[in-house]
This record gives sequence, C-alpha cells and structure tokens, in this order.
Amino acid sequence: MEFRQLGKSGLKVPVLSFGTGTFGGGNEFFAAWGATEVEEARRLVEICLEAGVNLFDTADIYSDGLSETILGKAIEGRRDQVLISTKATFRTSAGKDPNDVGSSRYHLIRACEASLRRLGTDYIDIYHLHGFDALTPIDEVLSTLNNLVASGKVRYIGCSNFSGWHLMKSLDIADRYGWPRYAGHQVYYSLIGREYEWELMPVGADQGVGALIWSPLGWGRLTGNVRRGQPLPKVSRLHKTGDMGPQVSEEYLHRVVDALDQVAKESGKSVPQVALNWLLQRPTVATVIMGARNEQQLRQNLGAAGWNLHADQIAKLDRASDVTPIYPYWHQRQFTERNPAAAAPGPSTKCEG
Ligand SMILES: NC(=O)c1ccc[n+]([C@@H]2O[C@H](COP(=O)([O-])OP(=O)(O)OC[C@H]3O[C@@H](n4cnc5c(N)ncnc54)[C@H](OP(=O)(O)O)[C@@H]3O)[C@@H](O)[C@H]2O)c1
Repeated sequence: MEFRQLGKSGLKVPVLSFGTGTFGGGNEFFAAWGATEVEEARRLVEICLEAGVNLFDTADIYSDGLSETILGKAIEGRRDQVLISTKATFRTSAGKDPNDVGSSRYHLIRACEASLRRLGTDYIDIYHLHGFDALTPIDEVLSTLNNLVASGKVRYIGCSNFSGWHLMKSLDIADRYGWPRYAGHQVYYSLIGREYEWELMPVGADQGVGALIWSPLGWGRLTGNVRRGQPLPKVSRLHKTGDMGPQVSEEYLHRVVDALDQVAKESGKSVPQVALNWLLQRPTVATVIMGARNEQQLRQNLGAAGWNLHADQIAKLDRASDVTPIYPYWHQRQFTERNPAAAAPGPSTKCEG
C-alpha cells in the first residue's frame, strides 16, 4: 500500500483508509448504512491490515458512539498497528444540554474523553472537528486542541467540512500562537461532487493541508449498481438516506456513470475501483476513506490502489464530470486559460480535453 504524508505534517497515511460509518446501525440513519457488529468488524479490520490499510475513520456521532465502541473492540490488542481518526463538534442523541454541541473548550474536552473511553485507547491519532462552529472563537478552539495535543490525548488535528476562509483563518491563528495546525481536512469529493476543487483544494495545496476524502463514491452512488432506467438495488442505503448528504441531478449522475462504465470496461476494473482511483490521482489527496457495507465491497474497493488510470481515461472522466464554475471561479478560469503559468490546482485550470 502506498503511504502519503498528511499535508505537511510528519504523519504518513495509507492512500486508502476505512470508514466505519457502517459499524453499529445504532439509529435509523446509520442503520440504513449498515449494522456491522464486533465479530464482522474484526474481520474487516483484519482484511484492511493484510492489505496495508491501517487508518480507520469514525466519529462520536456515528451510531451515537457505537461505531467508536465497535472499532475499539475490533482493534483490541493491535492498537500499536493502527491509526485512529475520530471527530467531535456535533450533538449525539445523548447530549441534551446546550453545551453538548459545538467546538467550545467545554464540549471538545468532554467529547474527546468520551471518544477515548469508547475506543478503549488513551490517544487519538487524528482528531477532527466535524464542522465549523461559528459561535466559538477560533482561538478558544485551537488553544483547546493545542492542550489536547500537549496532554498526549491527540497526536494530529484535522477539520472537516470547513469553508476556505474557516480553514485559512484557523491556520493563520494557529501560526500566530505557535499552536498545531490542521494537518488534514476531511472533505466530500467525488466524480459527482467536485466543489472541493473550487476553493479548498487550492488552500490545501498552498498551505500543506492534506485531504481525507469522505463519500468517495458520491454518497454510495458510484457503485456500478445505480444505473439509468433501473431501480435501486434492493439493499442500498440510498433508499433511506439518498435525499440527505450531497445531492446530484439524475442527468449529471448518469453522464458520469456512462463514462465510468466505458473506462471500467477498457481497464478491466470495476466502476467503484475506477472512481476511487481517479481520486487518488488528484492534487492534495492524502487518503480516500472507503465505505463498505460488507467484506465483498471492501475487498473490491481495496483493488482501487496499486495501479493508475491512463491520462486519456482521466481526461474522459474529467470531461464527463466537468461543470460550469460558479463566480469567481469562471472568471479565474478565463484568466488562467490565457496565463497557464498562473494556474493553481483546481477548476480555475480547465480540465484537459
Ligand atoms: N466528515 C464527514 O462529514 C463525513 C461524512 C460522510 C462520511 N464520512 C466518512 O467517510 C466514510 C465513507 O463514506 P461513505 O460510506 O459515504 O462512502 P461512499 O464510498 O460514497 O459510499 C459507500 C457505500 O457505497 C456502497 N458501496 C461501497 N463499495 C461498493 C462496492 N464495491 N460495490 C457496491 N456498492 C458499494 C455501500 O452502500 P450500499 O451497500 O448501501 O449500497 C457503501 O456503504 C464513512 O464511513 C465515514 O468514515 C465522513
């Protein structure tokens, strides 16, 4: 398995990692994703480790903590072989108090300690803020994260679902006080959701913040089982959660799936493998967090690494998934088309072909 540095931190992460949103099935939303219990989770962890994938992503809100508990049990006795990424900020259903949400010092410390208990460990390798909390001053957030790192409870910090300015302002404040910077940004990015490229990819490239990609198959749509004119497969989380998360028009989805089908056919790979491999070739991407309901899906997705799509195949996928930039990015694209040397990675650089 190829390892990449997470941004400009010293931490090396495998290009494929495993997301445990499918562990537990502890509430209606996550039950639609999966209900992997401890025994199966152990097997999935084992399969990952055999393939060289040692980074596991979870969050306190996944199945209201059950995902962390199950992951903790699944890695029992192998803590030193794995990297754990988890997240805080959002409210779990047990948290009824006004202070049980957000990135305040009060909530982050309690949330971190609760995650450590559930995971059965005394440190978290990458601790993410799950979202931006506009009510808590950024220096309160970052000084708390600094203390968590200094206390040894957290090794590296990351954020998730931030806007460009949230990230940039946070990095600036961290630098001002000499506090740890966000090493990684956990972001939604897929062949049917390329908004990451507008602002966040250029910030990541400029500032050395590595991307950890969530929902790389577009919220479970680029599986090869969602096709024009066909009903959804009988078992699919899309039945219950398709109208949550990232939305996509049918026309755009099928245009991309058609291109994926062509590339899959000519490369002898499956649709999910091609979709995941495309992401591995994008600037700033440190790791792609695979989702898998079962062993079969996991094994297939593990086959997304260790080879590269050809340039013409990438260009075909780029073309099929290209969208008209919103302002000011169309303006910047026009400028960089005339001045290619000024192009930053992202959609201001028009895709090839
Ligand atoms: N930071 C955040 O805000 C955030 C948000 C979402 C997710 N995440 C993280 O990212 C991880 C992955 O997200 P995701 O599950 O949404 O990723 P995804 O890759 O977009 O979707 C995964 C789903 O696609 C289907 N699938 C996957 N591989 C397949 C295959 N080979 N063949 C057929 N179907 C396949 C399965 O659903 P079905 O079997 O139901 O079709 C699976 O649960 C999560 O576990 C979590 O750790 C983070």
